Amino acid sequence: MAHPRVTIVGATGAVGKVALTVLEERAFPMESLRLTASPRSVGRTVTFKGEELTVEATTPAVFAESDIAFISANDDISRDMALAAKERGCVVIDDSGVWRMDPEVPLVVPEINADDVDAHNGILAIPNCSTTPLVMALDALRQASPIRRVIAATYQSVTGTGSAALAELEEQSRDYFAGNEARTDQYPHPIAFNLLPHVGSFRDGGHTSEEMKMLNETRKILHEPGLPVSATCVRVPVRVCHSEAVNIEFERPISPGEARELLANYPGIVVVDDPATNAYPMPLDGEGKDEVFVGRIREDVALPNGLALWLVSDNLRKGAATNAVQIAEEVVARGLWRYGAAKPAVEATA
Ligand code: A2P
Repeated sequence: MAHPRVTIVGATGAVGKVALTVLEERAFPMESLRLTASPRSVGRTVTFKGEELTVEATTPAVFAESDIAFISANDDISRDMALAAKERGCVVIDDSGVWRMDPEVPLVVPEINADDVDAHNGILAIPNCSTTPLVMALDALRQASPIRRVIAATYQSVTGTGSAALAELEEQSRDYFAGNEARTDQYPHPIAFNLLPHVGSFRDGGHTSEEMKMLNETRKILHEPGLPVSATCVRVPVRVCHSEAVNIEFERPISPGEARELLANYPGIVVVDDPATNAYPMPLDGEGKDEVFVGRIREDVALPNGLALWLVSDNLRKGAATNAVQIAEEVVARGLWRYGAAKPAVEATA
């Protein structure tokens, strides 16, 4: 078998659908592709490269016949199925927050820490979709000077929550204009024509889980365990793309021009920064693209050696599916997908 057998768990979801597109676009080499989802989607068909694939139940047995599994469903599925897959010699690339901070699990943005893939023990994790673009910008800029601290405010789209949240935004928008009361299910308050300073769940001290992810994951990916990162995460009524206002203090001064050059030369980052023509990154322009877009690069007058910038990134692509496929490419290139012991050919029970 020259190429891995691949399974997407959560193939009918917001990230899973984009993963299918990304696998096709990047011509990821596969022996076979299987799709799984919740029981309600079993039997549905999905077209991939002109071929009809039937969605299957998410059972451990699937992994006995898979070499690489992308999991993007929910925390419970990630918790259970990642272990089931690993036990069956299938390498997991997981999109949930369940595994990211496990010391045995590499948390990877290939532009930054691709070599961390080598240490995988069956499970690898992709970062949270607002962490990925931030760490890429920080990695580009720390080439000029060590970073002392980072302050970020995020503006996160509803697809970060999933397809049901997108449907809710659309329905609430229609209800708003029709004068009907908003029906809320995905969030504690209406998201249409509103902002919620609440992404994830509240933790001790008043931080949200999303804000703690930005701190802890940034430290792990950059291998900077003491880096202070203060984040305020806000859900906004945007379909796709997370945006972030970022303020960075450096040990040494960096001019906006130098920062622009470092960012423009970094793989996967595009600088869009021409105030004279109102050119700056926006979610509507970033949707469907793999690059992280950075603009509004300027001196931060409130921080010593400070820079302020604005970034936009498609949360379903580089924030999730694209980064996951890039990790899989690293796993394949390093010959690390033939993991564990020989697989049983067929598993009797699911
Ligand atoms: P389904 O479409 O059958 O509900 P999103 O992030 O857009 O909400 O998508 C979540 C993905 O996770 C979907 O593919 C969804 O399948 C899948 N999923 C949700 N619950 C389960 C479950 N219990 N077992 C397997 N897949 C699940």
